[in-house]
Amino acid sequence: MRFLGQSFPPLVPGILRRLSPLGGSGAPPGTGRDTGGGAGGVRDGASRPGDVGGEISMPEAQCDQESFRAALRTFASSVSVVTALDEKGIPRGLTCSAVCSLSMEPPSMLICVNRQNSSLRAIRHSGGFVINLLKAGRSDLSDTFASSSPAKFAAAKWYPSPVSGLPVLVADALAIIDCSLQAEIVIGSHVLIVGTVRRSETSPDADSPLIYLCKTYGSWASLEVPQNV
Ligand SMILES: Cc1cc2nc3c(=O)[nH]c(=O)nc-3n(C[C@H](O)[C@H](O)[C@H](O)COP(=O)(O)O)c2cc1C
Repeated sequence: MRFLGQSFPPLVPGILRRLSPLGGSGAPPGTGRDTGGGAGGVRDGASRPGDVGGEISMPEAQCDQESFRAALRTFASSVSVVTALDEKGIPRGLTCSAVCSLSMEPPSMLICVNRQNSSLRAIRHSGGFVINLLKAGRSDLSDTFASSSPAKFAAAKWYPSPVSGLPVLVADALAIIDCSLQAEIVIGSHVLIVGTVRRSETSPDADSPLIYLCKTYGSWASLEVPQNV
């Protein structure tokens, strides 16, 4: 299998699964319905043609984890809050820096979510998610959504996305990208989630994004961003 330009060993038979079409008679034999973070990449909720879930087995750690953590701390990243709705229609979300654009045709995004994070279940249930790229100065909101607080959304103004109903953090986001869940692959502790973009929106405010580097929040102050790019 080739994924992100790398070759991986063949998958265990049946691990990479093509799920049943929407409206079909359910998941193919043996796939089951994952109820939250289980291995196999099969998720709650309706599946669609083209959905793929799977798990890639990885070798044991081959590096010193502390030096790996130290190296990762030097990666400056923007900070997003990824939102969805759970089975009861309650908004859920987590702070997420592992967010990147994946392709332009079709417009798609990639996020990486720890399997232990409870928002994963909501993303699977919703069959999608909204990436809310935080503005600079919203570190308190980032900390709230990185916590286990049951009342994260009390700290944020939000409205339902017009295309999906999923929570959009109206006042705090520089950009909003609403995605339908297209595929997921379990790798070790995390799930790589691919979303097809169904709507995107950019704030008219010329704010900097919130930046996270070496466990510290800041803004992109030293970069002159040209107008009309
Ligand atoms: C700056 C920052 C970036 C983070 N990025 C991620 C990420 O990319 N993926 C992830 O799974 N967790 C990430 N986290 C941790 C989650 O936000 C955290 O585990 C959260 O409590 C999960 O909430 P939930 O269990 O309600 O989903 C990040 C935390 C911080 C502070």
